[in-house]
Amino acid sequence: MDDVPVITIDGPGGSGKGTIAALLAEQLGWHLLDSGALYRVVAAVALERGISLEDDAGLVAMATGLQIRIDEHAVRVDGVDMTRRIREEDVSEAASRVAARQPVRASILALQRAQRRPPGLVADGRDMGTVVFPQAPLKVYLDASVQVRAERRYNQLKNKGLSVSLAALLASIQERDERDKSRAVAPLRPAPDAILIDSTSMSIEAVLSRVLDEARSSGLTPST
Ligand code: DC
Repeated sequence: MDDVPVITIDGPGGSGKGTIAALLAEQLGWHLLDSGALYRVVAAVALERGISLEDDAGLVAMATGLQIRIDEHAVRVDGVDMTRRIREEDVSEAASRVAARQPVRASILALQRAQRRPPGLVADGRDMGTVVFPQAPLKVYLDASVQVRAERRYNQLKNKGLSVSLAALLASIQERDERDKSRAVAPLRPAPDAILIDSTSMSIEAVLSRVLDEARSSGLTPST
């Protein structure tokens, strides 16, 4: 599977990487890995089962026993639809905590790498380019100002019918950024060979077209 192309899209929450990764996968006809959803699932099930977010052995035993199915419409865990649940604020917070734990990260590494299937994979996360797919031929690191990222998350949640205050969201995004960037394992940072894109004042279309240009010049798509 090592010859199956991978495009990694890393960056902080609200940078637009989820949207860009989904559009890119659709446009290229490639598979999509939303790795954040995996950490969210582990967190949501831990909360549900009362497993401490610091109990590495308990978290790993639980995570490795889950049947997780993610497609473009839904996230199902052991047959139960958790699509909405995993986007709620308490799960976002818990996901950032479980994601800082090395044994948890290690337990879902193989599952993530198994998503590399023909004709190609777009992988969205924090460490796709640095840890999970370090050999990917195209790595993108997408960033945006914290204010704009909070506003985007706010609108996203509002559109999904979830209510949350913008100020609270801004504070929690800042806190999560700090945790994701400063953690000892797989901290959020660009791979040395990643292309950096700041989407603060770019439209989704502009970012997508920039990434597609890069994919073309890397020989990953037909040069039409
Ligand atoms: O992208 P997201 O907001 O759905 O991610 C949820 C949490 O998981 C977030 O705190 C960062 C973490 N995460 C990670 O550590 N590594 C990844 N590859 C993806 C997400």
